[in-house]
Amino acid sequence: MPLFRKNERPAQPNLEQLLSEFNQSLTLIVDKQLLIGNIAAKVKQICPVESIYIFLLDENTGKYKQQNEAKNKPVTLTKRSRLTSWLSVNEKHLTVSEHPDIIAYFPPEEQEIVRQLGAELIFPLKVMNQINGTIFIGKKTDGTVFTPQELKLLSILINQATFAIEHASLYEIQTERLKKMYRTDRLATLGELAAGAAHEIRNPLTAIRSTIQYLSKDFNADPTKKEMMDELISEVERINKIVQGLLSFARPSELNTSEVNIEQLINQTLLLVTNTLRKQDIEVEFEYFTDNTTLQADTEQLKQVFLNIILNAVEAMSKNSSGHSRTLIISIEKGAPINTHSRYLIVSFEDTGKGIEQKDIENVFNPFFTTKEEGTGLGLAICYGIVKRHEGEIEVKSTPGKGTCINIKLPQRI
Ligand SMILES: Nc1ncnc2c1ncn2[C@@H]1O[C@H](COP(=O)(O)OP(=O)(O)O)[C@@H](O)[C@H]1O
Ligand SMILES: [Mg+2]
Repeated sequence: MPLFRKNERPAQPNLEQLLSEFNQSLTLIVDKQLLIGNIAAKVKQICPVESIYIFLLDENTGKYKQQNEAKNKPVTLTKRSRLTSWLSVNEKHLTVSEHPDIIAYFPPEEQEIVRQLGAELIFPLKVMNQINGTIFIGKKTDGTVFTPQELKLLSILINQATFAIEHASLYEIQTERLKKMYRTDRLATLGELAAGAAHEIRNPLTAIRSTIQYLSKDFNADPTKKEMMDELISEVERINKIVQGLLSFARPSELNTSEVNIEQLINQTLLLVTNTLRKQDIEVEFEYFTDNTTLQADTEQLKQVFLNIILNAVEAMSKNSSGHSRTLIISIEKGAPINTHSRYLIVSFEDTGKGIEQKDIENVFNPFFTTKEEGTGLGLAICYGIVKRHEGEIEVKSTPGKGTCINIKLPQRI
């Protein structure tokens, strides 16, 4: 006797096998991007759908960030959004077309998110009472509604995915922490060495410079010798600049702090490079997610940080090194609380330049690390020193060929 009558095929062949394979493969993947891709592919294998968007919580900002390829405008969902609260309280998925009443209860910007993502099903990724992410699934490509069996399977699959993502996130945090520890250690040692060397060089250098300047007067009459003296002076100036750079990287806490408005300071810094930006056809976009951009800092030092980072971005996007669009996005947003009276303010510079190769990422803060013919390799080392002195953090993320994002976290009183 046939197992199924004619025209009555099982709705989903081999589903048990599919789920079990999926479960096994998930536990092996610790790369979050790979995992996300895998989850999206499996959802589509269970039932072909028009779209699937996965958002995960960024603990730094309390916002959900879209993980897979974005075809839509950036969407802002936070832990406090009504949609997130609804998912948290109800602990199940929301079927959009069946619950216009619930959707209507969301504020207009959240309704817009649901609409923009073309969502039919919204699943929470819930771990220990926290919504760690959301998955927006579009309509089925064949236009039919989701069957109870499909919904059940999707729920099981997403449940498994939730734990795999949590596992991968913890692994990522742990790896990041270790890397940061090694980096801090290495840079502290390098800093001591650099500071020592710089101090030793500074005094004799001052003596050399003033002697050359004094002697050069005697050579004014002879153009060849005068040129040689000028050359000497400019070489000494170059050494002096390097020594100053090393000291900016390594000098212990020497801050001249006052109340600084970061937004204004960024604008002032941009004014210094207006011409270069215009020449290189670079567009600057701002995304400010907080009204309070004021904090205690050393204006001059922070200006130097912003300038170094902007110049690096400009160099990475310069016309001879990248063919695609040249945009620098500068954003300021509230970060996670540090304690009861302060939190981080996060300032990000995201460029569309040539990016940094994986093997170089760990070295960019090292003094003298450069991939440029004319580079000194001190820019980011100086930034690191200054940000550390402000009790902040600086991190770099980059995709070769796509661009680089430098995040600076600075403590701000609340
Ligand atoms: N926005 C960026 N895009 C691509 N590469 C970058 C960027 N910022 C820094 N880098 C890399 O980090 C290296 C070190 O930067 P930095 O310390 O400013 O020194 P320099 O600019 O003198 O090379 C650069 O040579 C470059 O390889
Ligand atoms: Mg530089």
